[in-house]
Amino acid sequence: MEIVRRNNELYAVVDVWQRAGKRIALVPTMGNLHAGHHSLITLARERADVVIASVFVNPTQFGPHEDFARYPRTPDADAAGLAASGCDLLFLPGVEDLYPYGADRSVRVSVPELTGVLEGAIRPGHFDGVATVVAKLFNLARPHVAVFGQKDYQQLLVIRRLARDLGYPIEIVAAPIVREENGLAMSSRNQYLDADQRARASAINVALRAMDEHMRGARPRQEVEAEASRRLTEAGLQPDYAVIRRAADLAEPSPDDRQLVALIAARMGQTRLIDNLLIDL
Ligand code: PAF
Repeated sequence: MEIVRRNNELYAVVDVWQRAGKRIALVPTMGNLHAGHHSLITLARERADVVIASVFVNPTQFGPHEDFARYPRTPDADAAGLAASGCDLLFLPGVEDLYPYGADRSVRVSVPELTGVLEGAIRPGHFDGVATVVAKLFNLARPHVAVFGQKDYQQLLVIRRLARDLGYPIEIVAAPIVREENGLAMSSRNQYLDADQRARASAINVALRAMDEHMRGARPRQEVEAEASRRLTEAGLQPDYAVIRRAADLAEPSPDDRQLVALIAARMGQTRLIDNLLIDL
């Protein structure tokens, strides 16, 4: 696996691949890779001839009091894991490569509507940061397909809209959530949890599955949401939200909507965890 750090180096490799008619996949990540990320690489391999992974802890998507400084950075282990998963090229830019004018002075890409609710409401500016860096990565890597985890469901919708609205000819592929044995969705932030917190955090997945079951049993939505919040609180989590939304656009569902998504964000101590489950009625 080749590793490049500068934009022009990435551009040059992609040029050669484009001229050779290769189908290129991009898997953007913030590093500290776990089995969930490796599943994205596997999916990318199935969809393309060559796979690029980027590892970049993007400063513009972190709020001023969030964990940017302490976000785990493990580039050597990431490179080894990516090579083993069948990645062809690792793009490892510095802040000065993706933000030549500085992160605070960057051109911003802002996606309306979808970003005003849930994660967007709790983390103002977060999705502008995500959309901005993903647009930059799309421009540099010029992939035919890009793979994102479904765990960040709202992010996935934001990126689909970004790609369609700005006319990127890129297929956006959602990769299924990979879970620990106890059902906890894999996340780099899980390592902030001690053993007891990790065990109790499995209540998130239990709550999601109960939401699915109760919605399919035609229980009133507000009741289902309130019960999920109660379950989380009982397990020692502090829920930010536990809601059912329309899967297509995160709007409050009407009784006719059949494709829903249950979404939970909850804090365990200092650690914020998110998870979701698609519900087909
Ligand atoms: O999902 C992530 O890890 C990040 O939000 C992404 C898409 C790599 C952008 O920094």
